[in-house]
Amino acid sequence: MPARRPRTPKAPPAPPPSNGFLNVLDERTGSNYRIAIEDGAVRATDLHQIRGSPEEPGLLSYDPSFTATASCRSAITFIDGDRGILRYRGYPIEELAASKSYLEVAYLLIHGSLPTKSQLSDWLYNITHHTMLHENVQKFMDGFHHDAHPMAMMVSTLAALSTFYPDAKNISDEHIRYQQAFRLIAKVPTVAAFAHRHSTGMPYIHPSNDLSYTENFLAMMYRPSWTTQYTPDPVLAKALDTLFVLHADHEQNCSSNAMRAVGSSHADPYSCAAAAAAALYGPLHGGANEQVVRMLQEVGSKERVPQLIRQVKEGRRLLMGFGHRIYRSYDPRARLIQQIAEEVFAVTGRNPLIDVALALENIALSDDYFISRRLYPNVDFYSGIIYQAMGFPTDMFPVLFAIPRMSGWIAQWIEMLQDPEQKIARPRQVYIGPAERHLEVTGVRVPVRRPARTVDTRPRPRAPRPAPAS
Ligand code: CMC
Repeated sequence: MPARRPRTPKAPPAPPPSNGFLNVLDERTGSNYRIAIEDGAVRATDLHQIRGSPEEPGLLSYDPSFTATASCRSAITFIDGDRGILRYRGYPIEELAASKSYLEVAYLLIHGSLPTKSQLSDWLYNITHHTMLHENVQKFMDGFHHDAHPMAMMVSTLAALSTFYPDAKNISDEHIRYQQAFRLIAKVPTVAAFAHRHSTGMPYIHPSNDLSYTENFLAMMYRPSWTTQYTPDPVLAKALDTLFVLHADHEQNCSSNAMRAVGSSHADPYSCAAAAAAALYGPLHGGANEQVVRMLQEVGSKERVPQLIRQVKEGRRLLMGFGHRIYRSYDPRARLIQQIAEEVFAVTGRNPLIDVALALENIALSDDYFISRRLYPNVDFYSGIIYQAMGFPTDMFPVLFAIPRMSGWIAQWIEMLQDPEQKIARPRQVYIGPAERHLEVTGVRVPVRRPARTVDTRPRPRAPRPAPAS
């Protein structure tokens, strides 16, 4: 693939948001309110003091998809969507992708700093020695139908792991929390590979402690049998590792929000991770990589791209792999993924779908529909093409997203638990249903149960007796 020019000019970093006050005049009452602005946000609870009258409930802020609502303070991942910037714990994604392994990045996300040599060695040891699944998990997976989607198998198996580690419920114990972090990061590739082997009817290949994280995953996926030798290609293992770095976290996306929301009820981390994986499965989130490849296969050739663009502009379908809630410029991960594609194709041969994808991107990015809406390729636009070249079946693509996102989910979960401001996630609503009304049964009005009255048992002053008639 030819080197591509960045499409968005490099703008200087945005200044940090300034603090101050917001003066709000409620025209209904003439009242003025002084609301603090801190770190670019006002507290919705400060708005709640505003009432049209003393009887009215306090003002709510209405934001059905959290478009302009911060649900937490977080120190994990920073995104500047206008400038196409992504950083984990302050480090630019480009630097991490170029020089750090996925497991180093997972440590960084969870602990806040890169590991020292000895911390890394302990971390790798712990991850490597928690990759096995209990034999009964295998039996549980055996129960899935042969054509079950691997992502649905992963969602269910993550939830089932909760039954194998009942101690995980003790979420206030730091040691137990970190133990689940090792287990989840270590076991998720094994669950993923077993889901694939189950679909294909191949024997499960158990993890090997002498392979790296991605080599081990490739071996569990592709090794024909336990008695057959298989050496994972180092270039593919490295490319997969870099893809894992790019997918590890993405601040408050739909699945991280699910992880935090379920975690806020103090559920165990396996149940939370199952909820997060279920959110990721959807085609608007991590399931998009699968849908992109299906869409490109349906288009088939560069010549048929304009037809697809027409359907998208007529509102008949979405251009999968395009658009993002936060990025209003080129997703930096999509640009890095294009480079990885070259390295992978050098080993696997070129995936012809890349030419359809490039033609699609070129047409879309010069079309006013996409320009005016600031729709650019996102992380899912090119990742599926690489996974396909590496031999992964299409329905495994969302699973390949879930494996590395596990570290981000855990980091978000731990941060949520440690945040003294976090309580159970319980949004409010704007009720738009009918006002009070009553049931009518064949024309007879059902008696209304009135709320019980408090009976005043104090002796009452007697009413003066009428004076006897004289
Ligand atoms: N194709 C066509 N039109 C689009 C697309 C698209 N992929 N994405 C957004 N639009 C239009 C949308 O119809 C709307 O148009 P209008 O203003 O005329 O109503 C406008 O662009 C603004 O979009 P939006 O729906 O307000 O955007 P959102 O922030 O709610 O949705 C999104 C973000 C990612 C769900 C959406 O862009 C989408 O559905 N993309 C396709 C699915 C996809 O690729 N998802 C992967 C996201 S990246 C991986 C991850 O982190 O999840």
